[in-house]
Amino acid sequence: MCGIIGYTGCDKAVPILLEGLKNLEYRGYDSAGVAVQTADGIRMIKATGKVENLAAKAESTLGLYGVCGIGHTRWATHGSPSDVNAHPHMSADGRFAIVHNGIIENYLELKKDLEKKGVEFKSETDTEVIVQLLAYYYDGDVRKSLMRTVARLTGSYAVAVICADCPGVVYAARMSSPLIVGVGAGENYFASDITALIRHTKDVIDLDDGETAEISMDGVRIFNRYGRPVEKKLRHILWDIAAAEKGGYPHFMLKEIMEQPQAIKATIEPRIKNGRVELDDLDIDMSAFDRVLITACGSAYHAGCVGRLVIETLCRIPVEAEVASEFRYRNAVMSEKTLVIAISQSGETADTIAAMREAKKNGATVLAIVNVVGSTIAKLADHVIYTWAGPEIAVATTKGYVTQLVVLDLFAVWAAERLGRLGGEEYDGLIRSIKALPSKAQRALDLSGGAKELAKIYHDRSSMFFIGRNLDYAVAMEGSLKLKEISYLHSEAYAAGELKHGTIALIEPGRLVAALCCCDRLYEKTASNIQQVKARGAKVLALAPESNRAIYGEADYVIQVPDVHPLLFPAVEIIPMQLFAYCVALENGCDIDKPKNLAKSVTVE
Ligand code: F6R
Repeated sequence: MCGIIGYTGCDKAVPILLEGLKNLEYRGYDSAGVAVQTADGIRMIKATGKVENLAAKAESTLGLYGVCGIGHTRWATHGSPSDVNAHPHMSADGRFAIVHNGIIENYLELKKDLEKKGVEFKSETDTEVIVQLLAYYYDGDVRKSLMRTVARLTGSYAVAVICADCPGVVYAARMSSPLIVGVGAGENYFASDITALIRHTKDVIDLDDGETAEISMDGVRIFNRYGRPVEKKLRHILWDIAAAEKGGYPHFMLKEIMEQPQAIKATIEPRIKNGRVELDDLDIDMSAFDRVLITACGSAYHAGCVGRLVIETLCRIPVEAEVASEFRYRNAVMSEKTLVIAISQSGETADTIAAMREAKKNGATVLAIVNVVGSTIAKLADHVIYTWAGPEIAVATTKGYVTQLVVLDLFAVWAAERLGRLGGEEYDGLIRSIKALPSKAQRALDLSGGAKELAKIYHDRSSMFFIGRNLDYAVAMEGSLKLKEISYLHSEAYAAGELKHGTIALIEPGRLVAALCCCDRLYEKTASNIQQVKARGAKVLALAPESNRAIYGEADYVIQVPDVHPLLFPAVEIIPMQLFAYCVALENGCDIDKPKNLAKSVTVE
């Protein structure tokens, strides 16, 4: 979703802003713009489409020579993607320029108010009210006017502002939308995401809700919601620039698929000590809960569906999983005996945040499984377990999802042992199997060669199905989502036993059905579903463990996955499906890392 960068220093601002925006492209956007302070006041350029279009415009525009400015990639919410709606927005008097992430819920009311006072608006955006309010309240003190402005806003915002009267200073404010300060030598930055800054600095300060900040080339000042200065800690980013680059792969998605063995290892290794799962920072008494509710969106929800089955199996405690956009409005029955697990790669997903707030309001304890340190979800939760996947740039999650599965496995084993429901050889066996997952994931990658050949045959079909039972069904949902989101080939995931209740009508000769067959105890059942679709002319691709030889008598194509503990199959079984989706998207000439209409971090409802 939208991205922000702000820069002040002694280098030319525009190239730095454009480079930052380029690094934010993965978040998804439809237009971009920059504004810089110049000797002739604030100059601004904007363009719809790619940052390249903006860069071309910058090249042919004279006078963009300032050393202090702001930039933005916009993902349209209020008003269509157009130059006029793109950010930055300027106040009618040309004194202020602003970039904004988030949504101002009361913008119509504020707009009417300002219009009555004679202010003329240019765009359809909610953002423009912020900059017009800034100008309206301005009496020579930008910070004061910023504080008065944000006090009138309802909703979420991360804003960066420049003022023609204050050369070399960028101002910012944050509420429910991520914003960090990047601290450099003789230069400082604001950004919505560290990837915009990592080439310049690895030292950042996380802004908290209600805070405002100002940066100049030699200083950073942060103020709390009452305008009092606050001291904040620097956070040093541990990953380096190589982690945010493609490293020789044609796409981030492929790189991230290939990185999964390493990401799983990084997530598991620090948590298994002397043959036991140790979740150091987790101070939860599992016996205090009578149920677990898992909530998340998209792929993270699919990870939750796997987690539901694994936790329930091992802990024998009721577990439900629900998409956060439904959960937040369901008025779910919760109490202090409920453990809510919120799962998120970005840590900034608006629906998941709202679901967590709802859970906390009802007295539940919230445990977050998150990838991004310092994110809103990490801060809001009572307890956090990080997935050490490293930066995930491709919009479609792969290593983020797999590490969520692994954390859920670790948590389930940890909780089951604490509840006295798991021990002895069963416990030791699970630990051994979890420790083997990195090498098993590598084996799954090695066995996935067939995905490319199948993509060549089936990439231009109108639809396909994924079927499976139990954990296989939970993984089928993720396999199906991966395919449709990046290749635009329609697909559906179905619980294999449910097909005959309707969807089997859509099975026609030549239709590809991926049958997930890793759930050994239900294999015979899935095999009979395979026969049902084959009888209607479907072509069946089976994903089955290497030890399953019978499958060769059932399916048209087989992709093998390594044998692992029955509860751990999802983490290896998804890998060939990710590669299949990737190869289909490649055949279809899709923009794999930035699928149309999608955003990496969905910070709006
Ligand atoms: C799909 C995908 C999305 C995200 C969802 C939640 O590949 O990436 O479905 O899983 O938007 O995002 P996070 O995990 O950041 O909360």
